[in-house]
Amino acid sequence: MSATSVPGGAERIRQGSSIGQPLTRRDGPLKVTGRARFAADHLPPGTLHAALCVARIAKGRVTGLDLAAAEAHPGVVAVMTPGNAPKLARHPDQKDGPFVFRLDLLQDSAVRYANQPVAVVIAETLEAATEGARLLAPRYEAESPRIGLDAGTVFTPPAIGVGEPPEEGRGDVEAGLGAAARTVAATYETAAQYHNAMEPHAAVAVWDGDRLTLHTPSQGMAMAQGRLAGLFGIRPEDIHIESPYLGGGFGSKGMVSGPQVLACMAARLVGRPVKLVATRAQMYGPMGHRAPTRQTLRLGADPDGKLTALDHHTLTASSAFDDFFEPSGGVSLTLYASPAIAVRHEAVRLDTGTPLFMRAPGEASGSVALESAVDELAQACGLDPLAFRLANYAEVEPISGRPFSSKALRECYRQGAERFGWAGRPLQPRQMRDADGLLVGWGMGTATFPALMFEGNARAELRADGTGTVELGAHDMGQGAWTALAQIAADGLGIPLERLTFRMGASNLPNAGIAGGSGHTATAGGAIHAAGLDIIGQLADLATNDAASPLYGAGNAGVEARGGRLYRRDDESRSERFEEILARAGRASLSGQGKASADPAAQKAYAMHAHGAVFAEVKVDPDLGQMRVTRLVGAFAAGRIINPRLVTSQYYGGMIWGVSFALHEHAAMDPRTGRFLNDNLAAYHVPVNADTPAMEAILVHEDDAVVNALGVKGVGEIGITGTTGAIANAVWHATGIRVREFPITLDKLL
Ligand code: MOS
Repeated sequence: MSATSVPGGAERIRQGSSIGQPLTRRDGPLKVTGRARFAADHLPPGTLHAALCVARIAKGRVTGLDLAAAEAHPGVVAVMTPGNAPKLARHPDQKDGPFVFRLDLLQDSAVRYANQPVAVVIAETLEAATEGARLLAPRYEAESPRIGLDAGTVFTPPAIGVGEPPEEGRGDVEAGLGAAARTVAATYETAAQYHNAMEPHAAVAVWDGDRLTLHTPSQGMAMAQGRLAGLFGIRPEDIHIESPYLGGGFGSKGMVSGPQVLACMAARLVGRPVKLVATRAQMYGPMGHRAPTRQTLRLGADPDGKLTALDHHTLTASSAFDDFFEPSGGVSLTLYASPAIAVRHEAVRLDTGTPLFMRAPGEASGSVALESAVDELAQACGLDPLAFRLANYAEVEPISGRPFSSKALRECYRQGAERFGWAGRPLQPRQMRDADGLLVGWGMGTATFPALMFEGNARAELRADGTGTVELGAHDMGQGAWTALAQIAADGLGIPLERLTFRMGASNLPNAGIAGGSGHTATAGGAIHAAGLDIIGQLADLATNDAASPLYGAGNAGVEARGGRLYRRDDESRSERFEEILARAGRASLSGQGKASADPAAQKAYAMHAHGAVFAEVKVDPDLGQMRVTRLVGAFAAGRIINPRLVTSQYYGGMIWGVSFALHEHAAMDPRTGRFLNDNLAAYHVPVNADTPAMEAILVHEDDAVVNALGVKGVGEIGITGTTGAIANAVWHATGIRVREFPITLDKLL
């Protein structure tokens, strides 16, 4: 049964005692006491350690390795190079399905980007492997790399297997701009960013014949199984992935990366378990990144401040050997009402690793440019930025004309502005100072993210003693899936959380889809809930057809489950414990299956997006340009809230990432060598506590009867959208300087 095929919208959710509760993370105590075992914590008997030797050039080939020196080092067991790497069943450049990216797996001597693995040293200790990798001292034939958006050949998006970036439009943009009373044309640049999950990509690989056990962090275990099966020529079901905890993913663990596969190859080569943990620097290259963008926006407005045209052109980068586009323009298709919209993407091919999904891929970078340009146009029109946004409020999805499944954005604007104290903000910049003489500025941005859903499966069991088990191959990157999904599971089965055993994070459980696109709660949660409904339906059949039950004759739809009992809907005084129903029926247990996927009819009929409004205050030293975000208020509407504590935490995380995007993150490469200048957390800046403002996240109520069975829209990525633009707009409001190149650093204010 498909959960989304049940009519009745959000009303159909069985909400008992768990959903909606602000529970703390159920895995929290394990994590803070060190008992949660992450991938790299595993060390099966006989495990060898592997270290990557990575390229110090960005383009060319390896002409020599000092194999003898590495092999002679005490403790080194083997050196894996293109000369002896295990044969693969399929070349890793061969694309055999969606979401397949080309990987560098020692198939030849070519170097396609800096930090590309060129050999793997396997040794008895990590120290020996690391020293062995150093001793290899590769020699190269180097070519000049293409680095930076001006360096490569421009091409337009091909099919990328992960959805093409939107090339869409409606109306006549040129006519709209020509007729406008006020126009803005501006170009915004965003820097390349790297995911920098706290936990590096790690893999502990154990072969048993042609069966592989892999401890590795994954946002998509079933996809990883498929990719590995193709590469090794074995069956997906012969690959067992354990991924109960991730120290962050942000998209970088959505697809299996080259180094994770290299660990499996190394284990094959030496016939022993192998553990490989990428160093921080090695995370810059083979694991994806957010591509830089140069976005040109042209906006026009009539004398009342209503948009007449919106043109959003993105130039971004892909690698020289694969196709991934940061689809920045998508936000302009859905956010503001405009009679004419055009969105286009182009990219250049650069000698870098292939970019990848990174938290709010497209929306994050696109929102920066759109929210800045909207702010510039509001100023040109002499309108308050909030009034301007309200004047251009999209009652239906601008590009398609479809109604929104729900949209409480107006309420987000209202509650956010009120809490922030937006009213009375001076229109002109440089009008406010604090007691210390610092310039104060207020800015805002609209947050948006699509409500996505994938396909997920779950199974459940209810036992004679009234306890239950729900399990599926879901993933927790730190977002709280262990808790939120268990809450849904308990209510789905109609039992208290204490009576539930909840399992996830392993590939031998039902495929729960990918934890990405902010769609995991909707997908995995939908499957879980459907599995619970399956069992409750069976239980209801047993009870309502049994003359000995107080529920006899109520009919399957005439009962509901909560707290471990079935109740008659028309007479709450008549109920029966699950244990009694099962005992009389002589059943030791009931098992159920659940499946959830997007409903194509609803997808076609409705636009589905979460929305929010973010308000920022910054303070800038007028002499030094030093700036701080001092306050952030975000008000978000994302459908049903499963756990307000965890959702608030997700919004905080997203908003802090917005601070990071606005003021800190910038992967710098030497254009001559293509090598990273800051592939470490000392020089690649992310906000520390001192950079983190006072924050408030307001959970705006929103009912959505059609988005999915649970009525949830997802909260993982939206917080970063809106925030970066709000901060940039606040910097302008404080200083009168419009910085269009991100991150905003103090040199740009002097
Ligand atoms: Mo996300 S970038 O969908 O992990």
